[in-house]
Amino acid sequence: MKRAIVFYSKTGNTESVVKRFKDFDILRVKASSDDPNQKVVELVERPNVKDYEEVIFACPVHGFMICKVMKTYLTELEDLSGKTIDLFVTHQFPVSWLGGNQTLKQMKKLIERKNGVVRNMTSINWSSKKKESVIEEMLNRY
Ligand SMILES: Cc1cc2nc3c(=O)[nH]c(=O)nc-3n(C[C@H](O)[C@H](O)[C@H](O)COP(=O)(O)O)c2cc1C
Repeated sequence: MKRAIVFYSKTGNTESVVKRFKDFDILRVKASSDDPNQKVVELVERPNVKDYEEVIFACPVHGFMICKVMKTYLTELEDLSGKTIDLFVTHQFPVSWLGGNQTLKQMKKLIERKNGVVRNMTSINWSSKKKESVIEEMLNRY
């Protein structure tokens, strides 16, 4: 089975988790600017997931929401029918309801618009003592 992780990372936290997955192709979403306040996002790398059966989408939380680069990518994405999809986000604030859970819900909605079905969702709080165990638990699913 072909598996991919599609991610965006501005400061490296999400990327450091992505690199710990084994047996996944790692595909980065890139925009012409990483400015979180940019009005219009222009993507310069838009990974194609057509040939993958299992896909994980990962990104940071920005301003209690999905970061703009991943939002743009998921909005412009092709049909996701028949794929197994998991999500994870990294965030800094101490509790998930300050952005993590909201962002996962937003991502799920965007994916469902493309006929994708989301299986697992993980919110990784970068400032939590439990961070490492949350990451380990997620990695152990694969
Ligand atoms: C512009 C900006 C906005 C952010 N907003 C939030 C937020 O609303 N909630 C939160 O928990 N963390 C927030 N953070 C922290 C990041 O989500 C966190 O550091 C994340 O792990 C960064 O991932 P990255 O290193 O992959 O970019 C924000 C960071 C930036 C740069």
